[in-house]
Amino acid sequence: MSSERSGRDQATAQAAFTRGVKLLHDPVRNKGTAFTEAERDALGLRGLLPPRVQSQDLQVMRVMGNVRNKSSDLERYIALISLQDRNETLFYRVLVDHLDELMPIIYTPTVGKACQEFAHIFRRPRGLYICADDKGRMADVLRNWPHPDPRIIVVTDGERILGLGDLGADGMGIPIGKLSLYTACAGIHPTWCLPITLDVGTENETLLADPLYIGVQRRRLRGAPYDELIEEFVTAVQSVFRHTIVQFEDFANINAFRLLAKYRDRICTFDDDIQGTGAVALAGLLSALRISGGRIGERNVLFFGAGEAGIGIADMMVAEMVDQGLSETVARGRCWFMDSKGLVVESRTDLAPHKRPYAHAHGFTRDLLAAVQALRPVAIIGVSGVPASFTRPVIDAMAACNERPIIFALSNPTSKAECTAEQAYTWTEGRAVFASGSPFAPVEYRGRSHVPGQGNNAYIFPGVGLGVIACESQRVTDEMFSAAARALAQEVSAADLETGRIFPAFARIRDVSVRIATAVAEVAYRRGLARVPRPDDLPAYVRALMFEPRYENLT
Ligand code: NAI
Repeated sequence: MSSERSGRDQATAQAAFTRGVKLLHDPVRNKGTAFTEAERDALGLRGLLPPRVQSQDLQVMRVMGNVRNKSSDLERYIALISLQDRNETLFYRVLVDHLDELMPIIYTPTVGKACQEFAHIFRRPRGLYICADDKGRMADVLRNWPHPDPRIIVVTDGERILGLGDLGADGMGIPIGKLSLYTACAGIHPTWCLPITLDVGTENETLLADPLYIGVQRRRLRGAPYDELIEEFVTAVQSVFRHTIVQFEDFANINAFRLLAKYRDRICTFDDDIQGTGAVALAGLLSALRISGGRIGERNVLFFGAGEAGIGIADMMVAEMVDQGLSETVARGRCWFMDSKGLVVESRTDLAPHKRPYAHAHGFTRDLLAAVQALRPVAIIGVSGVPASFTRPVIDAMAACNERPIIFALSNPTSKAECTAEQAYTWTEGRAVFASGSPFAPVEYRGRSHVPGQGNNAYIFPGVGLGVIACESQRVTDEMFSAAARALAQEVSAADLETGRIFPAFARIRDVSVRIATAVAEVAYRRGLARVPRPDDLPAYVRALMFEPRYENLT
C-alpha cells in the first residue's frame, strides 16, 4: 500500500479538477471559511465565501457552540450529520477533538433514535442502497459509488438494529455511524469507507404503513431468494473493488451466524456483533478479573441472552481459556446461557444450532435468580435486549457469592440495559465491577466515584479494520480478535482499575487503535495472510496510514 496513493492523496489530486461552487459542495474537499486567500484566487472561490478567512480551530468552536445549543441529542445528531455532508474534514476534526462528548450522539444511544426517525429526518443520501430489484445488476450499482477504492464496507439488512429490532432501510444510520467511528477512532480515510443497506423489505408494520418510509414497502425476502441476493452482493463486491473488508452489521441472528460461517473463509469479512462484541467483552472480563481476583476459566460465567452478542463473547472466552491451557470441553462448560425460554440445558429440544455447544447437563429453570443461585457465577453478562432484567434480588444473589461481582449490562441502547450503573453500584454497596453497552455517567456512592466501563465495540473494530487494511490481510480471523482483546486489556492501567474502570479512557482511542492494529497485523504476518511485506517498524507504518483531519493546501 505504501507505493499507492492514500485516500488523502486521491482527494487532493481530485481537487485539482474541482473548482468554484462545485468545490464548496464537495464534502471531501470543502474547507468552508478556511479556504486561504491563495486558494480562493486559484480555485475560483473569490466572492463565493464571506471575506474573513477562519482557522479550522475557530470553525470547530463555532460547530461545538451550535451543537451544544441544540435542544435534544437527536437535533445534535442532525447538526453533525449535516456537517458531515458539507465538510468531512471539519466533521472529523470536531469528532476527534470531542470524542467523549460526541460518541453518544453519532453512535449509541442517539443513533438508535436517529434510525427510528430516519425517514422523517432524512436530508441527503449517504452510502449505497441496494434492493431486491437490483438482482442481476448489483455490480453496476456498486460502480456508481464515486470513490474508486473503498477498503471497508459496513453492510446491514436492517433486521436487528441495536436492540431495536427490524428498522428496514431506516437502519442505514448504523453503517454510516459505524464508519464514522472507523475514521474518528482509527483514522481510516473517509473515502475508504462505504456504508451499504441491503433493502430486502421489512416486517415492521409501522414502517410498512408510513408514507415517508425510505425503503421498499414490502415484506422481507427470505430463504433461497435472500441467500442468492447476498451471494450476488458478495461476488459483485469482489469483482468491482480491489481489497475490501465486508463487515456484516446488525443482521438478525438467524442470518448473521450463517453468513459469517459461509463467507469467513471465502472473503475478507467479519461480523462485529459476534466477533467485535466478543473481543470487547473478553477484554472487559480480563480487566474485571484483575479487580475481582481469579483467572478466566476458574468459575462460571452466566450469559442472559443467547444471541449473536452472547455466543460471540462466549466463543472468544473459550478461545482464551483454551489458550491458557483448559480443554475446549471444560472451557465451554464454564459458559452458561439463558435465552427467552430459560436456562440453556442439554435436555432442551428447541435450541438453535449456535446454542447447542453451550447446552450443559443441568436442571432446567426459567428463572434468572434461581440460575444465579445454582451456578454462582463470577460474572453475569446481559445481552438480551430486555431492560431491567437484572433485578435487585438477582444483583443481591451475585453480591452474596462474590466479593466483587462482575455485572455487565450490555444491551443497547440505554433504555434496554439490563440494569443501570447506579443500581449495580448501590445494590452491591459499591462492590460491583460494572460495564454497560451504552454510556452511563460515573456514580458517587458513599464518597467514592465509580466509573462504569462502556463495553463499546468501538474500542475494537476500528483498530481491527486498520490492522487488516495496513497489511492487506486476505482474511479476518478469530485469532485477530483475540489479539485485539488482549491488546485492549493491556491498555488498562492500575490507576484505571482503582476507580473501577475496566477499559482505557476513550479519549486515548487513536493510540489504542494503533496498538490493536499492530497486534492484528502481527497475526496476519504470522499466519501468512498479509499481502504486503512487513515494514520494519509496524506501529509507525500503521500510524502513518491514519487520516488526520487537518486541511491540506489545495493550491
Ligand atoms: P439477538 O437477537 O441475537 O439475541 C438476543 C438474545 O436474547 C436471544 O438469545 C433471546 O432468546 C434472548 N432473550 C430475549 N428475551 C429474553 C428474556 N426475556 N430472557 C432471556 N433471554 C432473552 O441479539 P444480539 O445481537 O445478541 O444483541 C442483544 C443485545 O446486546 C442488544 O440489545 C444489542 O444492542 C446488545 N449488544 C451490545 C453490544 C455491546 O455493548 N458492545 C454489542 C452487540 C450487541
